[in-house]
Amino acid sequence: MTETPDYSLVANQISALAEGERYWLPLLSNAAALLDEALADVNWVGFYLGDSLLRGADADVSSSHELVLGPFAGKVACTHILYGRGVCGTAAERDETLRVDDVHAFAGHIACDAASRSEIVVPIHRDGVVVGVLDIDSPLLARFSAADQEGLELCVAAIERLWP
Ligand code: SME
Repeated sequence: MTETPDYSLVANQISALAEGERYWLPLLSNAAALLDEALADVNWVGFYLGDSLLRGADADVSSSHELVLGPFAGKVACTHILYGRGVCGTAAERDETLRVDDVHAFAGHIACDAASRSEIVVPIHRDGVVVGVLDIDSPLLARFSAADQEGLELCVAAIERLWP
């Protein structure tokens, strides 16, 4: 079984990166790098962001209908995912973390890297609304445990503090 990293340490590192940071782009870029380094047995770590977040400060963040590729570490990935589609769009629409032990058994899974076997997607909120997701893929079946889910939700909470 894959070792569980020290997620409170990673979350603290993300909080340190977020200190004094006004923009999500550098924070998410470094968060993707940090998570990629901290997690064993993963082949893709990154973010998909709601289109309204990308339209800028004045956009109503609750008006997104698609997720757009954000900062990541891994192979070239699909760039647009409609809410409700794939693991990412389903997690965003349901506002729920999805842990998929076998991506081939998930109806509608979008295969970006053929090596991926399991996946976890954690929604990211601003003002209580889903504005994106953290998406992590693994080449191992059932790579992500309940402890990983808890730890990654902690990391996402550190990211969400970017928007007080
Ligand atoms: N598998 C995802 C698509 C994104 S890639 O994994 C990077 C999905 O089904 O939404």
